[in-house]
Amino acid sequence: MERRTALITGATRGLGLAIAQTLAPDYDLLIGGRNLATIEQVADSFPSARPFACDLSDPATMPRAVAQLDVLDIVVHSAGVTNRDRVENLTSQEWSRVLNLNLIAVAELTRLLLPRLRASHGHVITINGGLGLHSGAGWSAYAASKFGLRAFSDALREEERGNLKVTSIHPGRIDTDMQRQIYESDGRAYHPADHLAPATVARAVKYALEAGDEAMVEMLQIRPNAIG
Ligand SMILES: NC(=O)c1ccc[n+]([C@@H]2O[C@H](COP(=O)([O-])OP(=O)(O)OC[C@H]3O[C@@H](n4cnc5c(N)ncnc54)[C@H](OP(=O)(O)O)[C@@H]3O)[C@@H](O)[C@H]2O)c1
Repeated sequence: MERRTALITGATRGLGLAIAQTLAPDYDLLIGGRNLATIEQVADSFPSARPFACDLSDPATMPRAVAQLDVLDIVVHSAGVTNRDRVENLTSQEWSRVLNLNLIAVAELTRLLLPRLRASHGHVITINGGLGLHSGAGWSAYAASKFGLRAFSDALREEERGNLKVTSIHPGRIDTDMQRQIYESDGRAYHPADHLAPATVARAVKYALEAGDEAMVEMLQIRPNAIG
């Protein structure tokens, strides 16, 4: 298989790092993150990887980072932030923080990458979640960002159908820092085995990338087998 180039945002930790580890043997990688020393260290651990330094909360930094890219076949938008709070406590600043990173940064980075992705008949993968399909108490801001991300992905897929592939991945809870933070804020005991392993979700991403040319994995939902 010809090696393709994949940019993965949020590749310093958690799911993004697991996706980089899963793709590294077969893909040239761009390791997305906001701390140059960290992303250089991650990139150095793979056979073919370079850093992609960009603080996604600051759209003004994106054009410069994107200008340094040559070819690009794939972008996996994994960077994200969570929020677990009730509407009565959510300030407009907190709404902006969550929507900016989980939705607006994805839209802006994709827009800037589109000429390169179109040239390679590329693939956009958005890491969404169960909370992009249904909301609940304490999830208004996070779920709104993921509902919005699903709307973005569905629209982009139809706009670019036949040219780009667009896949929306919807994992349930994953054993990462994000999930530990949620359990801590809820005051609940954390059991890693009740969660999806990041590598399991990363394999689902690889499956979507490697479906035949005639196929597009449009949406993929993967949930823990454990009850709870
Ligand atoms: N964990 C779950 O249960 C779960 C379930 C469903 C969906 N998801 C989704 O999966 C994705 C990955 O989540 P995760 O669990 O791997 O989260 P995580 O462990 O908290 O990692 C978040 C990643 O996003 C990066 N990031 C945060 N703010 C950034 C910014 N301003 N600019 C650039 N990068 C930034 C972090 O970089 P730093 O290292 O620099 O902080 C880190 O690499 C997210 O989109 C999340 O919503 C997670």
